[in-house]
Amino acid sequence: MATVHIPSENRTLTQNDEIRAYLDGIGIAYKQWNPAHQIAKGASAEEVLAAYAPEIERLKAEGGYVTADVIDVTPATPGLDAMLNRFNSEHWHDEDEVRFIIEGRGLFHIHPRDGSVVSITVEAGDLLRVPRGTWHWFDLCQEKRIRAIRLFQDTSGWTPHYTESGADRGYDPVCFGPSYLAPRGTMS
Ligand SMILES: [Fe+2]
Repeated sequence: MATVHIPSENRTLTQNDEIRAYLDGIGIAYKQWNPAHQIAKGASAEEVLAAYAPEIERLKAEGGYVTADVIDVTPATPGLDAMLNRFNSEHWHDEDEVRFIIEGRGLFHIHPRDGSVVSITVEAGDLLRVPRGTWHWFDLCQEKRIRAIRLFQDTSGWTPHYTESGADRGYDPVCFGPSYLAPRGTMS
């Protein structure tokens, strides 16, 4: 289950219905694929895509997505910092950013043009659609682990356009949720 945090209101949402309603209000589609399919540890990308084939085909039909792949990131991924640095500054894309989380966690910040920045901590079972043109940025959580299905409308369009607004520097990349760990120095 995702956790939504709204820093300007010092509010954290943890209930499925309120998360869906709030995110819907800022144009972000959120749902859980439930029950999630069992994926063996170490399953190949092909096995993951095969297990979720019915859901993927439905999404493709709904959103005009043409391809799906599996991204797999661990602390040992070569070039991890360079990869993360491409996406942890505020940017937008020419196509939707659609992610279904298989394993691990991630932190999206969404910056509505006329509203407050919100963070969304996603974990296994969460499906998120960030529509094209939405200002956002992404970080991994402390454990630096995520495995997710990605859907694309046009793989050639997958380039971040940076806003250079600096908005991302005003928010700590802190993940929320059941496994939330307080930043160092805040606990006695
Ligand atoms: Fe992005």
